[in-house]
Amino acid sequence: MKNYIIHCDWKVIEEGFDPKNNRVSESLFSLGNGHTGQRANFEEKYSGDSLQGNYLAGVYYPDKTRVGWWKNGYPEYFAKVLNAANWIGIHIQVDGEELDLATAQVDEFKRELDMHSALLTRSFVASLPSGKKLEVEAKRFLSMKNQEIGVIRYQLKSLNFSAPLTVTSFIDGDVMNEDSNYDEKFWVELEKEVEGANAFLCMETKKTGFHSGNRQLTRVLLNGKEQLDQPEALQKEKFVGSVFHSQFQEGDTLVVEKYAAICSSLQTPKGKMKARTQKLVEEASAKGFEQLYQEHSKAWELRWETSDIEIKGDRAAQQGIRFNIFHLMQTYTGDDERLNIGPKGFTGEKYGGVTYWDTEAYCLPFFLGTAPERVAKNLLMYRYKHLGRAIENAEKLGFKNGAALYPMVTINGEECHNEWEITFEEIHRNGAIAYAIYNYINYTGDRQYLAPYGFEVLLGISRFWAQRVNWSEEKQAYVILGVTGPNEYENNVNNNFHTNKMAVWTLKYTLDVIAYIKREHPYLFEELIQKWKFNELQETDHWKEIIEKMYFPYDAKREIFLQQDGFLDKELIPVDLLPEDEYPINQNWSWDRILRSCYIKQADTLQSLYWFQDEYDQESVKRHFDFYEPITVHESSLSPCVHSILASRIGREDKAYEFYLRTARLDLDDYNNDTEDGLHITSMAGTWMSFVEAFGGMRVKNGQLMLDPFIPKSWESYSFKISFRGSHLEIQMGEELKIINHNPGMVSAIIWGKNYELQEKQELILNREEK
Ligand code: BGC
Repeated sequence: MKNYIIHCDWKVIEEGFDPKNNRVSESLFSLGNGHTGQRANFEEKYSGDSLQGNYLAGVYYPDKTRVGWWKNGYPEYFAKVLNAANWIGIHIQVDGEELDLATAQVDEFKRELDMHSALLTRSFVASLPSGKKLEVEAKRFLSMKNQEIGVIRYQLKSLNFSAPLTVTSFIDGDVMNEDSNYDEKFWVELEKEVEGANAFLCMETKKTGFHSGNRQLTRVLLNGKEQLDQPEALQKEKFVGSVFHSQFQEGDTLVVEKYAAICSSLQTPKGKMKARTQKLVEEASAKGFEQLYQEHSKAWELRWETSDIEIKGDRAAQQGIRFNIFHLMQTYTGDDERLNIGPKGFTGEKYGGVTYWDTEAYCLPFFLGTAPERVAKNLLMYRYKHLGRAIENAEKLGFKNGAALYPMVTINGEECHNEWEITFEEIHRNGAIAYAIYNYINYTGDRQYLAPYGFEVLLGISRFWAQRVNWSEEKQAYVILGVTGPNEYENNVNNNFHTNKMAVWTLKYTLDVIAYIKREHPYLFEELIQKWKFNELQETDHWKEIIEKMYFPYDAKREIFLQQDGFLDKELIPVDLLPEDEYPINQNWSWDRILRSCYIKQADTLQSLYWFQDEYDQESVKRHFDFYEPITVHESSLSPCVHSILASRIGREDKAYEFYLRTARLDLDDYNNDTEDGLHITSMAGTWMSFVEAFGGMRVKNGQLMLDPFIPKSWESYSFKISFRGSHLEIQMGEELKIINHNPGMVSAIIWGKNYELQEKQELILNREEK
């Protein structure tokens, strides 16, 4: 846990330079715009500990798998989003002496991330070992208006010396991923060119053949006047740069402006990189820093208009929630259905930048609630486009007839996770992908999505479940053996309640969808039957039997569903009774001890109770919550949000708040001591969910919006915004509850159990007593 980030409503601020926090700050102050992203590395040389990171969305390398014992069915590789060319480099030498914060004395250091306009500013005074003092201010952003543009304005002032100054502005393609399995470099150089202040570098990934095109145009101004001398061209392997020489006098100010084009062959055709990047940097430098920044901040303002959450009376909480929203918006913009959301986004390399069930289970609600409908739809389309690969994946494991098993981890639809107990067994993910289709349609009302996209995915997943179950003579029921539930702290269990539930629910939902398509699109349905060789009668009869005869482990004494068949054989000792120095157990206990223990990593049975709330009454939710929560260690950052929402459903407002706090500042305060690896981007969406669904009490039931807000005791007021079926609502909760409909058209909502209709621009004010 750390406490060095200054609390502020719209900014993340660090004052004073402590190299020990550098990796953490590099993560916290990361920038991104959906297309590209980077850690907050320094422009000037830094020889201290740092994780240099620039990432291009969707550009990956299949890093050959490394495991102890190979198991049939393991994927050949783990896909990694690649650390790409470092384009921010601006190295400074004063009379041959390098500016390096690891060797200089650093004073007045301040790093500031303005979340409203996604601008990173860093300022400091550095005394070089020779005693020369420089004042530096660096500003940079990754344009949200034109996502292939990055801009830096780096200003230097001589405080006590006159000496020759050399500025080297460069692009370095000789980079590697820290977690490369065989210490391999993944990029080869294709082309480079430097002409004066204009430098271009084109690289290609090994195996996957992606191209990246980076170009920079550097302008240097001495005391406000452009340096007209041609810079020296610098070219090395995988490296291009322009070197500017100046005579620097005491009191002089030098400004380096760097206009960078960052392109990838996902958007720019190979062979067109040179021309495209040239056009981009010319346009950017013609506009200049200020205009580009205005355009960029306008684009951000529009995003905040539909997504901001305001909290009065608790600055730490205010900063925390905005920080979460900010990074989610930096990571995914929904412009390209080939892209998705890695658990660390663009802020680090852990989890390879690839897609997990986190997207469907945690991120989708955020984008449904705050962004245009197409954004969430693209997340669904990503999986739709991978259906063929999910079928191949299932075939590799022995499934037939179009059964689809979506991967645990993927970038292009192929499985790349390789721990058997997760790759083969954590199959509840297939249910999450089916549930996301329901969630999207329930929220947006876009039933058109079902035919053909939603249906085809549901059919593949249903076929998988129908083959994955087996009939138990002993139990006279269908069972699902050898699985790992969301709780990865027990593996290879039988009848994990959540997995069985997801199987049955998917089959039921697919039957509903079939009925809908047959009714509304009969001709299309005929085509789908042919396309998928769907033996409707035979297959759906089998599904119905599974629905009717699925086994769910149940404890009649406690009146709760059990996480898995053998759960009650475990020693049930509440987490509270564990010695404090044994947390987190995943860092202190042997894996074997964890597996045998009752401790639950993250919501498992409770995940089902959250998703299928309408099926369980309050008393039942309470019983399950009271049984499972005390033995849950929340060692996945995805855990507290589900608990916060359920706590609020059962009226435990304090608990709901307590769980919320565990996620809201998770990274800002480095709660788990792992922010240096990158931020917990997908769990940030869980934080948003717990705000809007726990405090705001928002739900959509059968297409009907419902709100049941309460306010945590320590806050004066809060407000949040949601887009719902074309309307844009602002919900303010303070002394009274005020709801404003900002968009044309009427929206109906059930608030504290009563139905209201809100006309355009209408403000509905309710007294808190009405709750
Ligand atoms: C969690 C998974 C999650 C993954 C990536 C793991 O620690 O247990 O549920 O998908 O992290 O966030």
